[in-house]
Amino acid sequence: MNGKILGNRYEILEQLGGGGMALVWKGKDTFLNRLVTVKVLRPEYASDEDFVRRFRREAQAIASLSHPNIVSIYDVGQENDSYYLVMEYVEGENLKDLIRREAPLEPARAIQIGRQIADALEHAHENNIIHRDVKPHNILITRSGRAKLTDFGIARPVLPPSLIQIQLWGRYITFPRNRPGENRLAQNPTSILWRLSCTRC
Ligand SMILES: Nc1ncnc2c1ncn2[C@@H]1O[C@H](COP(=O)(O)OP(=O)(O)O)[C@@H](O)[C@H]1O
Ligand SMILES: [Mg+2]
Repeated sequence: MNGKILGNRYEILEQLGGGGMALVWKGKDTFLNRLVTVKVLRPEYASDEDFVRRFRREAQAIASLSHPNIVSIYDVGQENDSYYLVMEYVEGENLKDLIRREAPLEPARAIQIGRQIADALEHAHENNIIHRDVKPHNILITRSGRAKLTDFGIARPVLPPSLIQIQLWGRYITFPRNRPGENRLAQNPTSILWRLSCTRC
C-alpha cells in the first residue's frame, strides 16, 4: 500500500496498526496538504456485504459525533476493492503502548485520561451511540496529553429500555424485553461506563 494514492487525493505513507477487519495507515491529504489517518477495510472483506455494512456504520457513527476527545472523520471512499475512512491524524500513541512503557501511571494522569474518555462516552451516549469496545488500544494520547477515543467499528445505536439485542451468527437481532432481570446481554450506557472503569491505567 505504501505510496498508493486513494481517491486521487490520499497518499498512503506508513502503517499505524490494524486488526481483524481493517488496516490503519498514516496518510497525506495531498489536496489540503495535511496528515490524515486512512483506515482501509481488508480487501478479503470487500465483497462481504456484512463487513462493508459494518465499515459504513463505523463511518456514520463517528460522523454523527463532534467532540475534542473523539477522533474526527473527514471523508469516506471506495476505490476498486478498497473501502476507506479518512480521519484526523493523532500524533502520539495509543494508551496500550503508553501503559506498557510507563505503568503504573501517576494517579492524576490516569484520572485525567479517564475523565476525558468519560466525557467522550457521555457525548456518544447523548447522540445514541454505544461504543462497545473501550480499551487502551482504542484510546489515543496526543503529544500534549489529550485522550481521544477511536475505533467505532462495533458501535451500535442505544436501544430503548423496552428492547434487547443479541448477536446470533454474526447478525444482531432485536427482541422486546420481557421480564425485569433479562438485561444481562444488553449494551447500554451504564455497561459501557462500567467497562471504562475496568480499563486499567
Ligand atoms: N486517528 C488515528 N491517528 C493515529 N493513530 C491511529 C488513529 N486511529 C488508529 N490509530 C492507530 O491504529 C491502531 C488501530 O486502529 P483501530 O481504529 O483501533 O483499528 P482496529 O479496528 O484494527 O482495531 C490504534 O491502536 C492506533 O495505534
Ligand atoms: Mg481497535
